[in-house]
Amino acid sequence: MKPYPTYRGLPPLGGLCSMEEAMKPGLSVEQCVTRLKRYHYAFKRLHQIFTARITAEPILELKNAFSLHGHICAEHTSALRKRVGEMREPPLGLEEIPHPSLEIAFDEILAAPGTELLVLGLYAKAIPALKTALEKHVADTNKLVDAPSVRLIRFALLEIEDMLAFGKKVIESLTKGKENPEWLALLEDAFADKPVERQFSKTPFKYDGVPKRDERFPDPYNMGVNAETFLYDPQYPPQPKTVMMFYKRLREVDVPEMMASIITETTGKPWEYYRDMTRQLWDEARHAMMGEVGFAQLGIDWSKKVMVNFTWSLGLNTQLTPIERHAVLYFIEQGLMPKNGKRFEWEVGQKSGNPLSALFQDYDWADEVLHAKIGRDWYLKDFDNPQDAIRYGDHCWSKVLMGWREWRDKGLTQHRNWWPDTYRDACKAWGVEPDPKILAFNTTYEQVRADLKAITGSA
Ligand SMILES: [Fe+2]
Ligand SMILES: [Fe+2]
Repeated sequence: MKPYPTYRGLPPLGGLCSMEEAMKPGLSVEQCVTRLKRYHYAFKRLHQIFTARITAEPILELKNAFSLHGHICAEHTSALRKRVGEMREPPLGLEEIPHPSLEIAFDEILAAPGTELLVLGLYAKAIPALKTALEKHVADTNKLVDAPSVRLIRFALLEIEDMLAFGKKVIESLTKGKENPEWLALLEDAFADKPVERQFSKTPFKYDGVPKRDERFPDPYNMGVNAETFLYDPQYPPQPKTVMMFYKRLREVDVPEMMASIITETTGKPWEYYRDMTRQLWDEARHAMMGEVGFAQLGIDWSKKVMVNFTWSLGLNTQLTPIERHAVLYFIEQGLMPKNGKRFEWEVGQKSGNPLSALFQDYDWADEVLHAKIGRDWYLKDFDNPQDAIRYGDHCWSKVLMGWREWRDKGLTQHRNWWPDTYRDACKAWGVEPDPKILAFNTTYEQVRADLKAITGSA
């Protein structure tokens, strides 16, 4: 090609690519759409796997990462759906399976027994295969004609790199000696569209809704410290209340555990439902991480001092149907908007002298506004009027049995009052003497069983 002169040597084509690149044959629309649908399928299945494996995954760092990575994959799924919709008239065929072997590959990872094989399947096989395919698209396509696809693929690759960097560390630290080379070879073949035989997915995956926690949660049935009673009691000052709010935030790790069950067990909704619910799930994981950061800032080892329970996700996941769980979530979140909800928590943070607590509650409140909207969009609209929707949530919440006494009688917990110890540690960090009145706080969740809805669950 003859040199192509541009005005004073400025980059041609808006800086998108060179003239030579813009002249290459690239991919036809048909070829492009076929490939995009394959990436779409991969992101959608990854989203499904990350979400379905949050609840029963014991390791907190992995729960957090699965929440984030599920969200990332859902967002790229949405972007790809939109792009396919720009290039083709409906029906778009987005629910079709691109290749039977690809389906098996993802089914196998979904059903992989144990954390080690799951993370190997995800971070050593599935996501690298997707990365290679996306890079190949950018290399193969004409960057001018297919610029919108290239743009969204570049964004996707950014986050794929983040996921892989995280996954690499997970594999290094968790999977030594636990590899299953045969199975990993099977996955490799499946991702290359070679015929393979199912192993773990011979019997279809069954979602496990019973939450599991790692050893930093030694007393998961402990309902010995009633955080809400302390928080809303005007006799206590804001500073110690920030510790209770860090606890409430960290305890929220039960919301991803619960929402994962709704998302996994609810079928047949429009894709946007799964996207929005997954965004909320990720926000809730983020709220729990804020609590973790709060304790870290105070130098409090929450795993030893603070007994973070899983009773809410356990109760909802094992006693209610998916729609009933959603109803409870909606009911609780509606209750968070009035003055004793998120605004109150933010005000406590503001007055406490801990700017980090204020900052956390500021964003927690903003997220909650979004969650209320997600509730309106995906729960409320199935009811004739808002009152019925609230009443149903109230009803579902009231029927969840929390076995405060049974758990104690069975020896599952002593409902130990961990508050004085934790408060003393916090006082050390603040350089103040513990206040005997605050030290003496000793209200459990036992007394509030009769009116369960008054104990704010997580959200
Ligand atoms: Fe939350
Ligand atoms: Fe929320």
